[in-house]
Amino acid sequence: MTNRSPILAANMPLKIVVLLSGEGTLLQSFINRQKEGLPIEIAAVISNRPNVGGLARAEKAEITAHEIDHKLFPDRATFEADLIKLIDQYSPDVVVLAGFMRILGELFVDHYQGRLINIHPALLPKYKGLDTHQRAIDAGDSEHGSSVHLVTSELDGGPVIAQIKLPILPEDTADTLSERTKKREHLLYPEVLRWIAEKKLTLSQGIPLCNGEPLNSPVVLEPDGEK
Ligand code: GRF
Repeated sequence: MTNRSPILAANMPLKIVVLLSGEGTLLQSFINRQKEGLPIEIAAVISNRPNVGGLARAEKAEITAHEIDHKLFPDRATFEADLIKLIDQYSPDVVVLAGFMRILGELFVDHYQGRLINIHPALLPKYKGLDTHQRAIDAGDSEHGSSVHLVTSELDGGPVIAQIKLPILPEDTADTLSERTKKREHLLYPEVLRWIAEKKLTLSQGIPLCNGEPLNSPVVLEPDGEK
């Protein structure tokens, strides 16, 4: 099947495929916001881990759900080749990583150049990789947050599109900070999808453009909904 044109037809919802590995609270935020008019179509949800909460959430919302267990493949390349085949059946405008806990290789990333986004629970470029909440606390940071970025083959290293911030409280543990960060992510990620759907934000060629201008710094979303 051929790739869909990155130029969206007028008034068409943004067609997305969501990749996840866990609970799927981000997916739930898309489903909830879609019911309130967010112009997206969640064509499919794919998990690389069997029996996770995200798959159950998809099924409950009557969204096609697939599991494709990476452990059943001999190597990354064959897993990713199958994943690409599955995703491309849906011809998504954007592939949305929402808690997908697998590093993706160059083959995959190149295939979806300008159509692949991720959310990372840190104020990138700080704290790429794991344990972001604990690392921010240990560093004595006064604020933390989450970043939506274009995916490149460098881990958590693609251009940052948008961020949301929150203060780190003296009593915060990694768990409480993670919980509060997630609540903010549930505002941020659907909003980024809205900007793409409404063509305020374009990603083609791997360069985020906001209203046609290159983004010099990430858009910072205030928790009350203002940018
Ligand atoms: C989010 O915190 C996201 O930043 C990270 O994985 C988490 C996914 O949570 N990449 P959930 O599975 O959507 O609840």
